[in-house]
Amino acid sequence: MATVLSGIRSTGRLHLGNYLGAVKNFVKLQDEHDCFFFIADYHSLTTHPKPEQLHQSVRQVLVEYLAAGLDPEKVTLYVQSDVPEIAELYLLLNMNAYLGELERTTSFKDKARKQPENINAGLLTYPVLMAADILIHQATHVPVGKDQEQNLEMARKFAKRFNHMYKADFFNIPQPFNFGSELIKIPGLDGSGKMGKSEGNGLYLSDTEKQLRKKVMKAKTDTGPTEKNSPVSEPVQNLFDIMKIVSDEAVLDQFKAAYADCSIRYGDLKKQLADDINREIAPLRDRIEAIEADDDYLKKVANLGAEKARESAGKTLKAVREIIGFKPF
Ligand code: TYM
Repeated sequence: MATVLSGIRSTGRLHLGNYLGAVKNFVKLQDEHDCFFFIADYHSLTTHPKPEQLHQSVRQVLVEYLAAGLDPEKVTLYVQSDVPEIAELYLLLNMNAYLGELERTTSFKDKARKQPENINAGLLTYPVLMAADILIHQATHVPVGKDQEQNLEMARKFAKRFNHMYKADFFNIPQPFNFGSELIKIPGLDGSGKMGKSEGNGLYLSDTEKQLRKKVMKAKTDTGPTEKNSPVSEPVQNLFDIMKIVSDEAVLDQFKAAYADCSIRYGDLKKQLADDINREIAPLRDRIEAIEADDDYLKKVANLGAEKARESAGKTLKAVREIIGFKPF
């Protein structure tokens, strides 16, 4: 049995990338493994959310985790900031994380470009906090989308460095958990690389069917192929990429063939895509609404999760403190 762990930043509602790249897979894992899933609200502070927004976002992610089918009795489902042991491990790991390697990460460079007015130390040490999240429960497997691959590599590096530095075979070296041959990346519908919370190009699980169809029908394309077997532009390839995940293989093949012989109508492609995405997320919509209204249940779930997570985190932290050399008088 593996120890599986993963998290979602509480920066807003979950989008299709979060669901297909991560949460849908969490649900499949919960019956067979020891699972920890959490809401990364410390991480969300890098973008300075307003206090009144912060709790609402955490609550929304919790609701959507549950609506997707996570069972809080089977998994440890918790809010990161309910487990202060993570913050202490983060502090300790920071002592062995170097400025150069942190500055070189793609996500830091990306964020620094996107929010030049707010390049805070939390952004720089984001991968260290993520490593603390993973190592605090001695996770062996981390299911994430392709965009988190480098952060996970950093966590592996910090774990190995700690073991080496203290000559202790202590931390597990966590591995990415991939279901197929590679990690998933859901592109945006605006022709850009990735569907993301900060990109503002998301199809959200809580969107109504009408909103979803409208967004898909507005997806960026091009003027269409004019020659047989002409190369596919990025925005159109993005639509094919999403189709590959949500539609039947035969459907994708049919549209690709239509592209190749120039008979494709992008309106038909989008309509099919909207139908298939909707089929994927429609079952969640009603559950989101029902769970959203149930304060008592959410409170119970969060308390249970915090209790289970702190117990596991406390054990790791105690051992780490001993290895480092802290001793009680
Ligand atoms: P976040 O909140 O940006 O994304 C949550 C999960 O969704 C996946 N994901 C995607 N997958 C495919 N295509 C996309 N377009 C797409 N967008 C997002 C992400 O890969 C991720 O699995 N730093 C993390 C949260 C985190 C974490 C951790 C994850 C904090 N600590 C420890 C794993 C382990 C983040 O910001 O994910």
